[in-house]
Amino acid sequence: MTTAIGDNIAEAAALLQQGGLVAIPTETVYGLAANALNPEAVLSIFTTKGRPTFNPLIVHVPNAAHFERYATHVPPLVHQLAAQFCPGPLTFVLPKKSLVPDLVTGGGDTVALRVPHHPLTLALLGQLDFPLAAPSANPFGYISPVTAMHVYQQLQGKIAYILDGGPCQVGVESTVIAVEGNTIHILRAGGITAEDLRMAAPGADVQAQQWNGAQQPASPGMLKSHYAPKIKLHFGEMEALLHQFTGQRKALITFTNTYTNPEVLAQEVLSPTGNLQEAARNLFAAMRRLDDSGADVILAERFPQHGLGIAINDRLERASA
Ligand code: TXA
Ligand code: MG
Repeated sequence: MTTAIGDNIAEAAALLQQGGLVAIPTETVYGLAANALNPEAVLSIFTTKGRPTFNPLIVHVPNAAHFERYATHVPPLVHQLAAQFCPGPLTFVLPKKSLVPDLVTGGGDTVALRVPHHPLTLALLGQLDFPLAAPSANPFGYISPVTAMHVYQQLQGKIAYILDGGPCQVGVESTVIAVEGNTIHILRAGGITAEDLRMAAPGADVQAQQWNGAQQPASPGMLKSHYAPKIKLHFGEMEALLHQFTGQRKALITFTNTYTNPEVLAQEVLSPTGNLQEAARNLFAAMRRLDDSGADVILAERFPQHGLGIAINDRLERASA
């Protein structure tokens, strides 16, 4: 199969209607999309990624009014958050309707729904009469792609079309939440911060830690090892890491600081001005570049544990596991 890259929405739509896979741009990362209501098409997502089928997929819809099509109940707090963050990097876990295939939800009784904030993908969704199941468009366990070229480098020959929407503007995946009464449980940290959620729903109780409540499983995809480069990555305080890996050729990921050390082969300063948004946008592309740097180890420093720093630290922690 030859893999084409372009911005032809009609071609992407035709392939998806035939049950094919198309890589799609979103504001967070590129997704590997298929018709969410066609189990055979969804199965090919798992085989193409090498992803275990217990790990459920996010279903992408053109607007929040579509949540009712796939969820049996959409609580008022979800409507309130959707009014603020849809389209945007926020995914809602809701009780599923039976038309959503079990393969999409890992056999569970909930479905994850989100409205991606990207003009090409919103236009594509508007032309389809089905929603799109889409995990990040990387082989299972590897770094998520934030450009069409990243997708091409790893999935060429395996999918027919990559819809090129330019570099992703947020750069880390969506925040996954489950709402229970007045409580918002964050199942995966991502592009919408806990602070964003508190501002949007001042009366709600935002629980930032993993939730293992009786009714809802914690996000099953939150495996310990994930987002991992091929070169071993270590995560912590930079001065201590530099000392620990004396004698090895090092590639560094830092927030604002530049290190002058003869053993430092390459370094990626994610935001010289200290902007966490910019750092998140640069994170995955920087990890890929350092993976090709020829270093012995990648050393990544801990980011401030607030705002988008929480999602950045989460990804670096998993990349180091
Ligand atoms: O930004 C994103 O969310 C990107 C773009 C493509 O939309 N997608 C993405 O998909 O990151 P993926 O498959 O790499 O991660 C989906 C996460 C996993 O942690 C999965 O376990 C969780 O969402 N998830 C999906 N359905 C769920 C459910 N019913 N209950 C709890 N967690 C769920
Ligand atoms: Mg992923």
